[in-house]
Amino acid sequence: MSTSSDATPASAGRLFEPVEIAGMSLPNRIVMAPMTRSFSPGGVPGPDVAAYYRRRAEQDVGLIITEGTVVDRPSASNDPGVPHFHGEAALAGWARVLESVHAAGGRIWPQLWHVGALRSGSTDWRPPQPFESPSGVSRPGREIGVAMTEADIEATIAAFARAAADARRLGFDGVELHGAHGYLIDQFFWEGSNQRSDRFGGASLAARTRFACETIRAVRAATGPGFPISIRLSQWKQQHFPARLAQTPDEMASWLEPLVDAGVDVLHCSTRRFWEPEFEGSDLNFAGWTKKLTGLPTITVGSVGLTGEFVASFGGEKSEPASLDELLRRLGREEFDLVAVGRALIANPDWARKVREGRFGELDAYDRGVLAELA
Ligand SMILES: Cc1cc2nc3c(=O)[nH]c(=O)nc-3n(C[C@H](O)[C@H](O)[C@H](O)COP(=O)(O)O)c2cc1C
Repeated sequence: MSTSSDATPASAGRLFEPVEIAGMSLPNRIVMAPMTRSFSPGGVPGPDVAAYYRRRAEQDVGLIITEGTVVDRPSASNDPGVPHFHGEAALAGWARVLESVHAAGGRIWPQLWHVGALRSGSTDWRPPQPFESPSGVSRPGREIGVAMTEADIEATIAAFARAAADARRLGFDGVELHGAHGYLIDQFFWEGSNQRSDRFGGASLAARTRFACETIRAVRAATGPGFPISIRLSQWKQQHFPARLAQTPDEMASWLEPLVDAGVDVLHCSTRRFWEPEFEGSDLNFAGWTKKLTGLPTITVGSVGLTGEFVASFGGEKSEPASLDELLRRLGREEFDLVAVGRALIANPDWARKVREGRFGELDAYDRGVLAELA
């Protein structure tokens, strides 16, 4: 990747073309990627969280996907500062966030989350009940918590559906299910963490989509038609970065088609570097293949506008501002519809505004130190 900031305002213009996604009008293609900030003590997002999201909305971010916010299960969270999406106080907090973002003209989806069998890397805090997951392992040989019974699974699906219904009732513009990065929904997808022999397991990736599909159907039933539902997916797992759910385009289709049939509207394809081809023989990335295979709108993500990727940044590597040329080339050929920006938007709340105005030289680098404050 080139590290120069040489995109001109004219070429960046593609990022600022309006688009209609799942019946929702967006003023541009820029999405704030979901990013856990752990600034919600007791699970309740306060006025500081509302102001944080508002700052991005008022500076041209088209759609905000909130940090992961947990559904109503005793061990859905692995960090006491992660917001809940259940309970009166937390939902009142989210209503304030929503009001602030809407007042600034923004759109916002909560990212609904259950961590499954994954501990946080940054706290020793433990939920009141053991972690729960498909088979009580985060990866082969790594036991954590308990395997879910069918009753646990049904209750968890119902918890996702309640959270989505609350999102619609409060006035959110849609919801995203966190089905990526090795957390609960992804633990069902991956054979390394799903060793079940009942109907929620299976030898094929298609068979292991059942939990996600039943969750999507329940969310759709609880929210009704005309409410955008996204699912975030990744090939990689944080408990095993080389993991790949789909080895071929056909296998990828067998993973995605059941999700589409279940009623999802948008597929958010999480990669660490958006420019990496997903399969040999084509330069299409994960979001590109997903759009080609399903025809649904997709969101790309991964080191947009930055030189380094986010996992290394947790280890202390600094990422400098980088050219948007390759991103704009891919957007121009409609490889994907929306572009999620993560760390660049933490370091620069006004990232979208500066890019729109061509003020590339004013963009700040990203260093993990910026996570210390909710600026
Ligand atoms: C501090 C931090 C917290 C994150 N939390 C979440 C999260 O809650 N949910 C999620 O799906 N991804 C999460 N991610 C991943 C980001 O959404 C994004 O995919 C990743 O940072 C790559 O985008 P970037 O290179 O533009 O930062 C997080 C990333 C960072 C840096």
